[in-house]
Amino acid sequence: MEIIAKIKEIQEKSSCLRAKNKEIGFVPTMGALHQGHISLIEKCKEGNDWTIVSIFVNSIQFNDQDDLNFYPRPLDEDLDICRRFKVDTVFIPSIKEMYPEDQLTFVNVNKLSTNLCGKYRPGHFQGVATVVTKLFNITKPHRAYFGLKDYQQVEIVKRLVKDLNFDLEIITLPTVRNEGNLALSSRNKDLTLEEQKRAVILSQSLRKAFSLLEKDVKDPKLIIKQMNSLINQEPLAEIEYIKICDPAYLTDLDYINKEALVALAVRFGKVRLIDNLVWKKEEHV
Ligand code: PAJ
Repeated sequence: MEIIAKIKEIQEKSSCLRAKNKEIGFVPTMGALHQGHISLIEKCKEGNDWTIVSIFVNSIQFNDQDDLNFYPRPLDEDLDICRRFKVDTVFIPSIKEMYPEDQLTFVNVNKLSTNLCGKYRPGHFQGVATVVTKLFNITKPHRAYFGLKDYQQVEIVKRLVKDLNFDLEIITLPTVRNEGNLALSSRNKDLTLEEQKRAVILSQSLRKAFSLLEKDVKDPKLIIKQMNSLINQEPLAEIEYIKICDPAYLTDLDYINKEALVALAVRFGKVRLIDNLVWKKEEHV
């Protein structure tokens, strides 16, 4: 497995691979790899000749200095995982390598970045869109892999690929969960065992929403209210938002028709967890 820290070097590598007609798959990550990341790596291996994984804690997408400082960085374990899953190249740039002087160019995906997490983490999606754009130009992939756990991120990345005419395909994969149905996240390590147990309330509330949607409840307020009161039974949980949105435009719905994105962010102490589901009405003919 090759480990590259310099942009020039990986750009040359990718150009070389492309010249030999090799298809490049890319999995961008911030490290602290878990089964969610591994599902993307495995899919990438299946569909490409060469798999690149980036590990870079992208400072400009953090709007909270403490969050950035405490973000886990278990590099040796991450590299072991990459070796085990036969990643071909790991890209581990330094902050200086990615942002050598004041970065003056930023990518904003308007409209899609303003609701949901965008509302509570100002500047976050500008940081994500900017680093993803840079990483695409650095690794020059044919395909890039993203998890639907970060639904809004996926929609933003798909849109920037379309609007900026990147010649690559975005592949999305479902959320990987633990036995208790808690969505895996690098941040779960910061929860106490007790909090981890209690955090199943997120997926339970989504299940509740799903069953109401299946019963043809059309009013988002009603569903949100029930989710709210379920989560509020959990004293350790502090709700940031629960929203029901149009899955394509990410705007709040005031009436549910054929499909809906149910998304939530909940804090357990300092740890912020997100989860979502997309519901589509089954057409019975
Ligand atoms: P990170 O949180 O490390 O996630 C990297 C990729 O793994 C993302 O596409 C994310 O959606 C996916 N992922 C995380 N948890 C998952 C789970 N439980 N199931 C399935 N996929 C999961 O997302 C980022 O990093 C950054 O914002 C990044 C795109 C790398 C830009 O800095």
